[in-house]
Amino acid sequence: MRIVIIGSGNVASVLGRLFVKNNHEILQVVSRNAAHAQALAAEFDCGFADYEGAINKEADLYLVAVVDSALYDLNNNLHLGNKLILHTAGSVSKDVLKQISINYGVLYPLQSLRKEMEYTREIPFLIDGNTDETITLIKDFAGTFSGHVVKAADDERLKLHVAAVVVSNFSNHLYAMAEKFCIKENVDFKLLLPLIKETAGRIEYISPAEVQTGPAMRKDVFTLDKHLRVLSDHPALKYIYLKLTDSIMKS
Ligand SMILES: NC(=O)c1ccc[n+]([C@@H]2O[C@H](COP(=O)([O-])OP(=O)(O)OC[C@H]3O[C@@H](n4cnc5c(N)ncnc54)[C@H](OP(=O)(O)O)[C@@H]3O)[C@@H](O)[C@H]2O)c1
Repeated sequence: MRIVIIGSGNVASVLGRLFVKNNHEILQVVSRNAAHAQALAAEFDCGFADYEGAINKEADLYLVAVVDSALYDLNNNLHLGNKLILHTAGSVSKDVLKQISINYGVLYPLQSLRKEMEYTREIPFLIDGNTDETITLIKDFAGTFSGHVVKAADDERLKLHVAAVVVSNFSNHLYAMAEKFCIKENVDFKLLLPLIKETAGRIEYISPAEVQTGPAMRKDVFTLDKHLRVLSDHPALKYIYLKLTDSIMKS
């Protein structure tokens, strides 16, 4: 595919590299900020433009990887006829693109992506399109760089995005809170890394509900009370600890 990427952030960078690695050609990077477009274009040795500049009309695919709110403004100045246009958002309907082209859809990477990542981990893609032909085209395209491509309609993708926030963003927030606690209490957070890996790794084979452990699960009030006393100087963490303890006890 010959591709124009609109956006220059995390997803634009990581997916752009994935496209190039799998023999697709990036023709241009377009971004609100010209310097950001130029920097990413330099990596792909392609053209660049800001929103005032001319968009390359020779591409087979236009991939829009911008913040969700900006997707709603695109149709004011982007008109691509029958060229395929895809966005990468979990919680935005594909129909946000329907005024721009007669062929549109979604290529949603169900993974946490940061442009600093030097190598790409496994990325499942949830795809959708406005016609059966478009869906097949997107599926075939995504199959060139991922072994895990699944069709998901807007409502399924939205629900999986909610679950993704819980398992990724919330877990990471808990890691950050635990790290802050360890620093303040002068104990080594890094000693917890094997435990974090073990907990995440085992659910590949067993339902997480079946492997829940800990004082809340055992209803060990004696230990819980000790923990809450240690947490008396950490009100934000104590609040989360109590909420999650309650949730585990009721599960
Ligand atoms: N990162 C992830 O892990 C991940 C995973 C799956 C899906 N997604 C989705 O992918 C999309 C892009 O996410 P991202 O992580 O790549 O975001 P990001 O790194 O924050 O980059 C945001 C991009 O949006 C542009 N932008 C910001 N505000 C804008 C505005 N008002 N008008 C036009 N453009 C604007 C920025 O352009 P300039 O820099 O030129 O201003 C930048 O290129 C989002 O829909 C997100 O939900 C992200």
